[in-house]
Amino acid sequence: MSWWWAGAVGAARKTLGQDGAPRSKNFQSVALIIGVTGIVGGSLAEILPLSDTPGGPWKVYGVARRPRPSWNLDHPVEYIQCDVLDAGDTRAKLSPLSDITHIFWVTWANRPSEAECIKVNGAMFQNVLNSVVPNAPNLSHICLQTGHKHYIGPFEAFGKIKPHETPFIEDVPRLNAPNFYYTLEDMLFDACNKSKGLLTWSVHRAAVIFGFSPCSMMNLVGSLCVYAAICKDENVPLKFPGTKAAWNCYSVASDADLIAEHQIWSAVDPYAKNEAFNCSNGDVFKWKHLWKVLAEQFEVEYAEFDENEKFVSLAERMKNKGPVWDEIVKKNQLTPTKLEEVATFWFADVIFSGECLLDSMNKSKEHGFLGFRNTSKSLISVIDKMKAYKIVP
Ligand SMILES: NC(=O)c1ccc[n+]([C@@H]2O[C@H](COP(=O)([O-])OP(=O)(O)OC[C@H]3O[C@@H](n4cnc5c(N)ncnc54)[C@H](OP(=O)(O)O)[C@@H]3O)[C@@H](O)[C@H]2O)c1
Repeated sequence: MSWWWAGAVGAARKTLGQDGAPRSKNFQSVALIIGVTGIVGGSLAEILPLSDTPGGPWKVYGVARRPRPSWNLDHPVEYIQCDVLDAGDTRAKLSPLSDITHIFWVTWANRPSEAECIKVNGAMFQNVLNSVVPNAPNLSHICLQTGHKHYIGPFEAFGKIKPHETPFIEDVPRLNAPNFYYTLEDMLFDACNKSKGLLTWSVHRAAVIFGFSPCSMMNLVGSLCVYAAICKDENVPLKFPGTKAAWNCYSVASDADLIAEHQIWSAVDPYAKNEAFNCSNGDVFKWKHLWKVLAEQFEVEYAEFDENEKFVSLAERMKNKGPVWDEIVKKNQLTPTKLEEVATFWFADVIFSGECLLDSMNKSKEHGFLGFRNTSKSLISVIDKMKAYKIVP
């Protein structure tokens, strides 16, 4: 089966009850999104409940630790405030949800070392599996989102181990370095093997994600929007805070809505079961071109890359800008946020620091997923959404 539902976002939504949950009881599938306010979790929360989403009608439970943010209220989701690192909290809140049919794992925890990342992310995943698998008899599929670090190793190993050559293809052997992605995959395989075929899995390896979320631990577009807004406010040109290689080389990105569609595809299509897939837009771009788009969106002066200028990272450029951001928020009557919530400059520095990473979408296409995004339009649509929700001016 190959399908693609164009224009899914923004299509008719189910009527909501007073509690924000959908009224209809005739659900075909029941999703549990772990990380519902994150960069892809938000897209899943928006797309799953739509009337024309494959596998639907979907009932959707969404989990995050913080209270439900105002911009998430639009989605017909039963919001569950729960810390999945806390085994007791997870058991108490998730084990009663006996109607879950699909789990979407779109969360993670960052720790100073990969050994700690393995411990913490493994514990989070195990807590959810322990609470849901024995109590949800109709659980049929688990989507696990990981990323390109599957092929290049964790942050701490950058420059220390030899990454796979690009374009990345799914079936290369694992690198010889500890990686929490590998740990989560192994736990996933183990849970599915124990189910004796009742439970299937899919792994979705994203490139850098373009999406909307002021609650994301790695949000490149959010960081760029804040940087552009500050440059505009200070009346200085928008300089590229990266290397010449990053400015000039071909890159790939993953639109958050496209990743959500990819996960929903694998949740419902038999040809997508028990497979790991790359998940990116299907085109290539250069930052030198997207930089112009960014500058136009914020009406700030565009600056060409100048190799004679001293390199200054984005984190360094923005390190004392908290009060400037507070002032921009006040002046433009934006949704109140702190600089570090909307912007994750360290992550932009990682993306802009080196050689570009490409992947191949052939395996997804061969299995029937023909979805794609124009990355330039994806950037504009995320910026539009950030502006519409009054996160940036
Ligand atoms: N972002 C990217 O550009 C990118 C690119 C490639 C791969 N990836 C990979 O994608 C995977 C998912 O990351 P993401 O970037 O999509 O996530 P994200 O945007 O950072 O979102 C994380 C979500 O999980 C929630 N959360 C965090 N800890 C939690 C806990 N203990 N209990 C319950 N909820 C919790 C967060 O809300 P609260 O904080 O309120 O709990 C938020 O809703 C990771 O493996 C990441 O490495 C990301």
